[in-house]
Amino acid sequence: MAATQAAQDLVGLFPNGTSLDATGALVLGGVPVAELAETYGTPALIVDEPSIRARARRYADGLAARWPNSRATFASKAFPCTAVYRLLAEEGLGIDVAGGGELTLALAAGADPAGLVVHGNAKTEEELRLAVEAGAGTIVVDNFDDIDKLEAILDATGAEQGVLVRVTPDIRPDTHEAISTGQNGSKFGLLLPQAREAIARLRGSDRLRLDGVHVHVGSQILDLEPFGQAVEAVAELGEFAVYDLGGGLGSRYTYTDHPPTVEAYLDAMTDVAKRLLPTDARILIEPGRSMVAESGVSLYRVVSVKRGGGHTFVAVDGGMGDNLEVSLYQQRFEAAIATRPTGEGELCRLVGRHCESGDTLSAGVRLEDPRVGDLIAVPVTGAYTYALSNNYNGARRPPVVFVRDGEHRAVVRRETYADLMRRDLP
Ligand SMILES: Cc1ncc(COP(=O)(O)O)c(C=O)c1O
Repeated sequence: MAATQAAQDLVGLFPNGTSLDATGALVLGGVPVAELAETYGTPALIVDEPSIRARARRYADGLAARWPNSRATFASKAFPCTAVYRLLAEEGLGIDVAGGGELTLALAAGADPAGLVVHGNAKTEEELRLAVEAGAGTIVVDNFDDIDKLEAILDATGAEQGVLVRVTPDIRPDTHEAISTGQNGSKFGLLLPQAREAIARLRGSDRLRLDGVHVHVGSQILDLEPFGQAVEAVAELGEFAVYDLGGGLGSRYTYTDHPPTVEAYLDAMTDVAKRLLPTDARILIEPGRSMVAESGVSLYRVVSVKRGGGHTFVAVDGGMGDNLEVSLYQQRFEAAIATRPTGEGELCRLVGRHCESGDTLSAGVRLEDPRVGDLIAVPVTGAYTYALSNNYNGARRPPVVFVRDGEHRAVVRRETYADLMRRDLP
């Protein structure tokens, strides 16, 4: 039986390797969803490995074709697990880390320290020392205290360190306030006058080598204008060897999201760069969300279906413990009953198991006759879900499972109840 338009639209939100079997059930990366749920339990985060690799190549090749002296760097905060670091390092990407934890994960995964870009608006001396000692190629200076701390660390060792200055260009992209970083009032970076001051100071530094400037104006940005504006803003600061243009391209979470393509995004930045930046400068970019979001699918089991007062609540065995995006910035998600993803049926509120009314995975989603025991699949959960997962209500964080060519392997196991007590002292 041919899938309806609604079913095709719904399946279109799942990773490229997704199909339907003869019964109409989802097959992720060649593996039936029922097999994945049986093998790993629920909730579980399933990741289509070829989708991430394909996206990494599109970014790396697309950028190199437009600006040969360049590198695509993965903003690892979007999915900081060693298997993902390893995969993207294998694809030749640099790695952006925010703080000592991500730095340690990247090194453990075998990332080349020279390709590390170290971020953070509140880097401790310990973290800066770790980065310097690891040989991190680039540290992004967010404030004058970073400069003081780095100079003290390097004076003691006699080493030199390459740095960029993070610039806040006073651009406010059309995205949720919680993930907007380019505006005056953002806690990140230095406004243009202060950035000029930091640049002047770094030019006089014996130990810090000013390589250039960095800008990142926000996340889940669905129009191109802010990206070009950000390049114009950093161009105003003068000529440098390196311009790191950050990340921020949005992903397609719902039917109504229409993010620009990777190629259109790269065009938007490099078109302005070709006009305003020195032709021999090196360009870095740092996509996070758009590198991994669309490769991920969260699987849940329905625990309860409750109707009343004009509402249907479909409650699953996960929620804000494994997906905080809804609570933090009201990210919208679609969802499907994994064995019958029709995109039609009753309008339901898909809710989690946690003791918060805000613990909602989707405020309005059509599900076909939802029943206890049904498998629910939520697409586009590859970014900032694992990263933000937590143990609220004693939830055990779910496993991460890679699928490709009909094979599956866990790259992170599910937490156990014993894990919940791992740090407790008698
Ligand atoms: C400095 C920096 N670079 C890159 C990113 C990645 O952004 P996105 O995941 O939206 O691509 C972030 C995310 O907040 C960031 O803070």
